[in-house]
Amino acid sequence: MTNLLFLCGSLRAASSSRALAQTLMDRIADRADSELADIGALPHYNADVEGDPTVAAFVEKVGAADGVVFVTPEYNYSIPGLLKNAIDWASRPAFESVFKGKRCLVATVSGGATGGVRAQSHLKYTLNGMLARVHLDKEIVVPFANAKVEDGTFTDADILSFAGAQLDDFLGTLGT
Ligand SMILES: Cc1cc2nc3c(=O)[nH]c(=O)nc-3n(C[C@H](O)[C@H](O)[C@H](O)COP(=O)(O)O)c2cc1C
Repeated sequence: MTNLLFLCGSLRAASSSRALAQTLMDRIADRADSELADIGALPHYNADVEGDPTVAAFVEKVGAADGVVFVTPEYNYSIPGLLKNAIDWASRPAFESVFKGKRCLVATVSGGATGGVRAQSHLKYTLNGMLARVHLDKEIVVPFANAKVEDGTFTDADILSFAGAQLDDFLGTLGT
């Protein structure tokens, strides 16, 4: 079965982005094996550190995934440091990392009206810099995301339908 790795840019228990990631993972459970990476367990990036087992396991998971799905909030007009840290670990060697050629799908959320559009563009720019293959389609941006979560489940039917369709398209590109 297709194997997807989800990366979420928020650690908080009531995270709307993680709720969206989890709800999307549940929706495609019959078609894909999905895992939410524990990027909070990664140490801060340090080029002097080699052989860290947590880092090695994460990089291996990115490398083994058929596709990587990012679901992240916007922090201060960009992506959270947590997520950038994880990306940086998996980005070496430059232009030859596990992200080279990797199919990636991006969804952003925000507590406000803009849905994380600035984080979305920053993340795609970063992925381009690693020669990842960013899925090109209408952008998945989720405004007022906290109001769309109940008991850890993302509940907005319109956004789930839209994001679910993009995810289906993305799944269709994997292996091609
Ligand atoms: C440090 C920090 C910076 C933030 N910066 C932005 C921002 O630039 N734009 C925005 O729309 N929301 C911003 N927010 C609000 C987040 O969009 C909101 O808290 C969102 O719910 C976080 O995602 P989560 O629910 O997955 O934790 C910020 C929140 C934090 C904690």
